[in-house]
Amino acid sequence: MSALHSVTAPHPALPPLREGLERGDLDLARIRADFPILRQRVHGKPLVYLDNAASVQKPQAVIDAISDCYSDYYANIHRGVHLLSERSTVAYEGAREKVRAFLNAAHVQEIIFTRNTTESINLVASSFGGSTVKAGDEILITAMEHHSNIVPWQMLCERTGALLKVAPFTDAGELILEEYERLLDSGRVRLVAFVHLSNALGTLNPAKTLIDLAHARGIPVLVDGAQSVPHLAVDVQALDCDFYAFSSHKIYGPSGVGVLYGKKALLEAMPPYQGGGDMIRLVTFEKTEYADLPNKFEAGTPNIAGVIGLGAALDWLNTIGLDAVAAHEHALLEYATAQLSGIPGLNIMGTARDKAALVAFTLRGIHPHDIGTILDREGVAIRAGHHCAQPVMQRYGVPATARASFAVYNTRDEVDALIKALCKVKELFA
Ligand code: ALA
Repeated sequence: MSALHSVTAPHPALPPLREGLERGDLDLARIRADFPILRQRVHGKPLVYLDNAASVQKPQAVIDAISDCYSDYYANIHRGVHLLSERSTVAYEGAREKVRAFLNAAHVQEIIFTRNTTESINLVASSFGGSTVKAGDEILITAMEHHSNIVPWQMLCERTGALLKVAPFTDAGELILEEYERLLDSGRVRLVAFVHLSNALGTLNPAKTLIDLAHARGIPVLVDGAQSVPHLAVDVQALDCDFYAFSSHKIYGPSGVGVLYGKKALLEAMPPYQGGGDMIRLVTFEKTEYADLPNKFEAGTPNIAGVIGLGAALDWLNTIGLDAVAAHEHALLEYATAQLSGIPGLNIMGTARDKAALVAFTLRGIHPHDIGTILDREGVAIRAGHHCAQPVMQRYGVPATARASFAVYNTRDEVDALIKALCKVKELFA
């Protein structure tokens, strides 16, 4: 069997498309009207933005929140006694509470603002890993991680003499649970880190099962939620994960802001990640006393307006509701899978039973970069490349794939535009 699946029919596990879902459950015209960037034409064609897994577009409410911050009340936070600093501090800390509620974290101190998912994972690798991992210990990840959830652990292993272990997945893109358990059973695993929703395959991993299996052996778990949070409701208490990381820019907020959720007891026991202003209580040349959570992990002036923008993004998303988002995107994925499967020579990479938000594919004899370039001329923006997940490409023996990834504002008409443009690609290369 070829490692790269040749899909000729819609995935059997996908339930039939509910007629009218797109029109009935979501007011797509209203949602799209919230995104000024979607009104433009590119190369004379209406923009069809299907590169949402790389970064998603921003609603007017987020743009306004950032603009209002800078126009009306911007000042540094936690420092000033003046009114603007108080207003900025209240807005910044208000966003922290919004993130807490969004993840259903037990305590607001468990929400740490970082630059992005990558920095959140580096924080855990450096602080938790650096203080607990020793030579001969193991860090367990999966073979479907993107670079952000590989390289920080490799660097930790290089520093400490620990070993990186990798749980494999099937040709369909599903983790092999028996192998995962076998690797957990070495008795040396100090931390598991896995992706919730794969950016290269679309696989939705069974997070609760993976966490429970690790916890049954006393092993803490970090979940990389960079792709999952915009597409499905995440409850960190129900999952019982120890750390959860995500980026603002993939959930309709600005870039340059990330979130690390960590269980309070773990975060309290961890040393600071970076030193500087705002993370201290008292500094002398002899010794520094660190601030309490969450400030202990937020050294220096943060991206104040960006964090406030993230809060606005969550407010905006809550007006739609993640269940409605997930239903809409699932219908789109199902429709796109069926349509793409009808194109001769097109192979879908990643056919897991639980999938969300994106479809990665190759077209026989045509490099994904050529697909991406021709699609762009048709107004259709996709990503072509290794998707910051080179080991996944190596797993399937391909240098790259083309990837269409969906957001709540995408429509079936846009999937049709993608299919039409792909037919053009094929014509040009015929
Ligand atoms: N990891 C991001 C992507 O999948 C950048 O495109």
